[in-house]
Amino acid sequence: MTLSPSDAWFKYIHTHFLIYNICWEDVAIDRKLLKLDESSSVFMISSAGENALTYLLDNPESIVTVDINKRQTALLELKMAILKESGYDDFFEFFGTGKSARYKEIYSMVRDDLTPPSRKFWDSNISYFSPDGKGLFYQGGSGYFARLMRYLIKTNGLTEQVDQLIHEPKRSERERLFTEVSQQLISGGSKFMWKLSAVLGLAGIPRSQKKAIGNLNAFIRDVFNNVFVRQQAQSNPYWNVYLKGTYAEEYLPDYLIKENLQHIVTQLDKIEFSTQTVHQYLSSSKQKFTHFVLLDHMDWLYGSDQNALKNEWKLILKRARPGAKILFRTAHSSLALIPGEIRNKIQFTEVDPEWVALNDRVGTYTGTYLGTVQ
Ligand SMILES: C[S@@+](CC[C@H](N)C(=O)[O-])C[C@H]1O[C@@H](n2cnc3c(N)ncnc32)[C@H](O)[C@@H]1O
Repeated sequence: MTLSPSDAWFKYIHTHFLIYNICWEDVAIDRKLLKLDESSSVFMISSAGENALTYLLDNPESIVTVDINKRQTALLELKMAILKESGYDDFFEFFGTGKSARYKEIYSMVRDDLTPPSRKFWDSNISYFSPDGKGLFYQGGSGYFARLMRYLIKTNGLTEQVDQLIHEPKRSERERLFTEVSQQLISGGSKFMWKLSAVLGLAGIPRSQKKAIGNLNAFIRDVFNNVFVRQQAQSNPYWNVYLKGTYAEEYLPDYLIKENLQHIVTQLDKIEFSTQTVHQYLSSSKQKFTHFVLLDHMDWLYGSDQNALKNEWKLILKRARPGAKILFRTAHSSLALIPGEIRNKIQFTEVDPEWVALNDRVGTYTGTYLGTVQ
């Protein structure tokens, strides 16, 4: 099959680079929707790994997490190894600030805990955490995207306004600031930047999602309006870490909060990770799951291989316990991703888009769906 240049670019970066330096799905929303407990056996995609760690706060029975990209597995493994071998301060420096003066020393402490592919990756890339470098959050595909966003803010002279917008408590004032900022950032000279497949690929947005979104400038305006005006962005770890390059200590994601750490550490053995596709794992394992967290990866399949999408749904059904919950996000506005023959076996509900707009701190997906296996 011949790939279009944008598909070829997407494939290239996703097979050669780390893309996600943080998970780009709001884990607080996941936990509200999934309602995990001691009887939950979760199947999920790793991305940057911390959502699996965060689910441990709900004491599930087990978590199986896979990713097609070995660099994403390496990131999860590094998180787990530092959690096991080191204390809160080291873990926080690596994954809270993205830099550590002791990065070489800490890496040498945990290196032997890693599987050979992850060791190989970090042997070449542990300098991501160097105090003299850009730090973890400006590395990888999403890191380049974050740097581009910062560059646009800076070159348009908007740094101060964006800062005010983030911290402004009054909504009417946020609206005024947002109009000023968005005029330059979304409608001005920068507007073409958001449309480039090369740029979108860095953020993990394939051509099929770009097509489903339609008017990208209007979409980005809506996302920013939800996250920076309708919500109060000051406490939003997802966007602030990209704007600042580090998490704000008073608004940390749950897995970086000191009081939660011990709870997570004692349960690390419940996580089984591997580098493979969803299809590969589900077709080779006999395990049955109560929860599936599929992120938005079905949009990737929808654009490239409808047959694979159909087969994957069949496998999910085969591996689901009765009543299992299936969470996914999508750029598509309908249930285009669900083949007809699956729709009467899983009951899907779209999570109220207005509630999502006001609560999802990532805010970049058109639809959030929760399915229940009948
Ligand atoms: C679907 S992407 C989208 C980003 C996502 N919203 C997040 O949490 O950051 C997340 C991860 O899915 C992985 N992925 C995509 N398709 C996959 C598949 N068929 N099987 C396993 N992992 C996959 C990618 O390598 C990436 O790390």
